Amino acid sequence: MAKKILVLHGPNLDLLGEREVDVYGKLTLDGINGELNKLAAELKVEIETVQLASEGEIVKKVGAAKKEGFAALVINPAAYTHYSIAIRDAVAAVSIPTVEVHLSNIYAREEFRHTSVIAAVATGQVSGFGLNSYLLGLRAAAALVK
Ligand code: DQA
Repeated sequence: MAKKILVLHGPNLDLLGEREVDVYGKLTLDGINGELNKLAAELKVEIETVQLASEGEIVKKVGAAKKEGFAALVINPAAYTHYSIAIRDAVAAVSIPTVEVHLSNIYAREEFRHTSVIAAVATGQVSGFGLNSYLLGLRAAAALVK
């Protein structure tokens, strides 16, 4: 049976395509999810994509991921990356391979974005490649569960 991977997009990522296009590009979240689905078929994994705006919803979804049958997690925690200890604890608690992804290079932006409280509990991080951050993240997650 194909392994299931959860792809979780955090707050404001539903606004991609119209939000700060100079930073995030013109691709919409539906566009990103479409490309992820194509790659998932190629890699022979099953994915569920979800966008959640609130910290509590993300904590619940991450916490339930193992019980829901997910073997790995690809997460763009968006602004929560920089300060959500609750999401960090959820990632640490669920203990499935986790790839943190960012469209932009968070280390090349404002200083408050240089810290990720998630990175230390993730398996790894991909940052700065736009759509390819997600695609590389999915490839990494698929390789981790094969
Ligand atoms: C982001 C970077 C974060 O700093 C920001 O708050 C986002 C998107 C990215 O994908 O580049 O919302 O996670």
